[in-house]
Amino acid sequence: MDKIFIFDTTLRDGEQSPGASMAVEQKVEVARLLAGMGVDIIEAGFPISSQLQFEGVKRVAENVEGPTIAGLARAVEKDITTCYEAVKPAEKKRIHTFIATSGIHMKHKLNKSSDEVLKLATDAVTLAKSMVEDVEFSAEDASRSEWEFLKDIYTAVIEAGANTINVPDTVGYTVPDEFSELIQFLLNNVPGIDNVVISVHCHNDLGLAVANTIQAIKAGARQAEVAVNGLGERAGNASFEEVVMAIKTKGSYFNLKTGIVTENIYQLSKTVVSFTGIPVQPNKAIVGENAFAHEAGIHQDGMIKNRMTYEIMTPQSIGRSKSTLVLGRHSGKHGLKTRLKELGYTLKDNEFKKIFDKFLELADKKKEVFDEDLHVLIEDELNILPEIFSLVYFSVVTGNKVIPTATVKLKKNSTMLQEAATGDGPVDAVYRAIEKITDTSVKLVSYSLNAVTHGKDAMGTVTISVERKNKQYRGYGVATDIIEASAHAFLNAINRILFNKL
Ligand code: KIV
Ligand code: ZN
Repeated sequence: MDKIFIFDTTLRDGEQSPGASMAVEQKVEVARLLAGMGVDIIEAGFPISSQLQFEGVKRVAENVEGPTIAGLARAVEKDITTCYEAVKPAEKKRIHTFIATSGIHMKHKLNKSSDEVLKLATDAVTLAKSMVEDVEFSAEDASRSEWEFLKDIYTAVIEAGANTINVPDTVGYTVPDEFSELIQFLLNNVPGIDNVVISVHCHNDLGLAVANTIQAIKAGARQAEVAVNGLGERAGNASFEEVVMAIKTKGSYFNLKTGIVTENIYQLSKTVVSFTGIPVQPNKAIVGENAFAHEAGIHQDGMIKNRMTYEIMTPQSIGRSKSTLVLGRHSGKHGLKTRLKELGYTLKDNEFKKIFDKFLELADKKKEVFDEDLHVLIEDELNILPEIFSLVYFSVVTGNKVIPTATVKLKKNSTMLQEAATGDGPVDAVYRAIEKITDTSVKLVSYSLNAVTHGKDAMGTVTISVERKNKQYRGYGVATDIIEASAHAFLNAINRILFNKL
């Protein structure tokens, strides 16, 4: 299997994402993680662009062992000498120099002819090569450049000593077939190309950065320039985790491999999220929160029977602990039963049916039903008391300038009973209305409310203790609405009193 060199530019192009800047210490930490995972080249920054960038590259070069440490430099003498100073402490160092080669860039940005650009590129590579053994040259905006000019400029920089020639799709404009044809054209027409590494650097403006990278590799490129979480200018660069996992997952199809320890990918992604403050979308491939989560009943059923039905890689292969079967309104009985079993509950058929009905009711109210919700449902259901009174309906009017008033409707057998009452607060008003209907007055001894699940739509549990005729009775209620949970807790206590059970 041929090895693909992974060139990580999270700390350079990735850091160029708006708002993604990292402190020098954070850059060193990311670089250490990348080194530990077997990344071949770390592009640590663009030293001429600021003192902080220079410092970042230098500190990475001083502190991170293993990979080659690269710095970026325009095809300008000062850039190259500054870059050299920054990467100098590294055991393995690279100067990555670039100049734009497309008609648009040469005319409007550089205001230079192609002959001038070719000379600047050759001079830059010659100068860099006098300082370091390892030089990479990039023809910026290569995918929009004349192929004949690319042939000339790559030929010239290879003669000048470039070891790697990079073909950037700077504005994310190419498509897989076209890009692969360009790589093949270069392979067939640039003298000396067999002695250098062809690299690709794809941006994601059309969402094709990973596809273009993979297709170029298939055509003969051997270095992929990538950034963690797909960070980078505008829509970002080809994502590190997607390129690496595509090569790993389809390794035998491509007959290719990388040297990356993929089991650290998730931790790396999380670290970059926390340092940059840029989250990844939940459905992001490989590292998104939902990448190994299954909600549909049919999918859960398949996963329970054999995970290969709906997963092409294991969560463990990227360092995630397990796949999750998300319980929500699309989940089926099989998914719920399996989760309950994992939580230690083996229910009889009639018990399970009750829980499943309750679960569906809850799933209609909440987007996701968590394990804690299930514990609460089970507790509620399996501790069931005869419901002498059950809650049918309640409404409260409350505010800081009105007297809280509650109207409550309860059911006793098939009779509906309704009362209204005022109180010190909405819960007190509800409790007084319930006391009237049930003709049972009690003293509230304790009341506690807890959110037992996460999120804004968390379940609230209310636990109370009431006293009647020197005896204390507990009550317990659960609902997404805290007044409703309070009403259930109170009725639970009243039912206990009427059933005369502590
Ligand atoms: O996108 C680009 O062309 C670049 C080069 C400097 C390699 O980032
Ligand atoms: Zn770029």
